[in-house]
Amino acid sequence: MELQDHVKGNINGETWEVTHYLAMAYKADHLGMGEVADALRRIAMDEANHGARFIFLDGQVEDLKGEIEKMLAGERKAYDGKHDGMKEALGHDKKELASWFDTAAHDEDRHAKILDGILNKYFK
Ligand SMILES: [Fe+2]
Ligand SMILES: [Fe+2]
Repeated sequence: MELQDHVKGNINGETWEVTHYLAMAYKADHLGMGEVADALRRIAMDEANHGARFIFLDGQVEDLKGEIEKMLAGERKAYDGKHDGMKEALGHDKKELASWFDTAAHDEDRHAKILDGILNKYFK
């Protein structure tokens, strides 16, 4: 295996672990196991840092302004995409899933506003 394959594989693996550990933490909370949830969230943050450092060391965020602009475009697209998901979920009578799509869509909109504000203040 080439070095780049190791780096790429670790980025993908750590990324998957972050969401999976956080999902396990949600489950633990639902089971009334708050301390277990906290421990799983701590692990998730370690995994996020592992993946983030690999991305940083791989030079993927050299152009900070360009990266922020790219993420801003993604956040705006995610807002629309999540609302499409919400409509699909409603069509399948999955109300909680639809509600989560809507909540997350508004988070993406907030992320876009934050990034837009950063671009205007620091990268003009
Ligand atoms: Fe890790
Ligand atoms: Fe976002």
